[in-house]
Amino acid sequence: MRKQIVVGNWKLNGSRALCEEFALGLGKFLSRESIVGELAICPPAVYIDSLSSAMVINEVNVAVGAQNVAAQEKGAFTGEMSAAMIKEAGGSYAIVGHSERRAMFGDTDELVATKAAQVVAAGITPIICVGEELAVREAGNHLEFVGQQVSAALSQAQSATLIVAYEPVWAIGTGNTANAAQVQEMHEHIRKVASASVNAELTPILYGGSVNPSNAAELLGLPDVDGALVGGASLELEKFIAIAKR
Ligand code: 13P
Repeated sequence: MRKQIVVGNWKLNGSRALCEEFALGLGKFLSRESIVGELAICPPAVYIDSLSSAMVINEVNVAVGAQNVAAQEKGAFTGEMSAAMIKEAGGSYAIVGHSERRAMFGDTDELVATKAAQVVAAGITPIICVGEELAVREAGNHLEFVGQQVSAALSQAQSATLIVAYEPVWAIGTGNTANAAQVQEMHEHIRKVASASVNAELTPILYGGSVNPSNAAELLGLPDVDGALVGGASLELEKFIAIAKR
């Protein structure tokens, strides 16, 4: 069985106070409700350590992850953060290749593959993001485009345990969620392409892009959707809980 997981990506948002609110609030919620599978939060890097400590101290079964990782293991790379450091700070996951990093910070397919391999080598799990721009979908090339992103990102994966997140760029932060047919079609395609590099039947494929409490149940119910990568709605405890609730 593939695991189901709902991951919050806080992007450049949050504070120490929000970390405390989530650790306590999720603890209370998990003590009385059943959820989709697993939960994880990826706060800005400076909060990984304190958020994961707060989860441990309060005995809350929610994982913590990073939003990015260095492509190198160590050395003279000012401003970078290695996968081993993320793990030592209590992180179990690292998002790589988010479309915002691809668009604004030069994360190429090759760099994404190298970063994912670094994360795997450190013994934590990469969440590899892929997704097409609107123009690519309108031209009818979305399956081919995303398929190529997946093959490139998994080129150094060597049967590793990893997660793929399909996030169509046009659905991120726009309120325009991809519809169920579009999501299922793409997830099935991603699983087929990924099977050349990893055990795709055991690889969770998450959907991301304007997931909210009203559309989560339908999306998470699709056969090839194994969870969600949630941006905006993951900053509000009530909404995040509503998305994760069974
Ligand atoms: P939104 O949920 O705000 O659309 O963001 C999705 C995303 O980019 C998660 O990584």
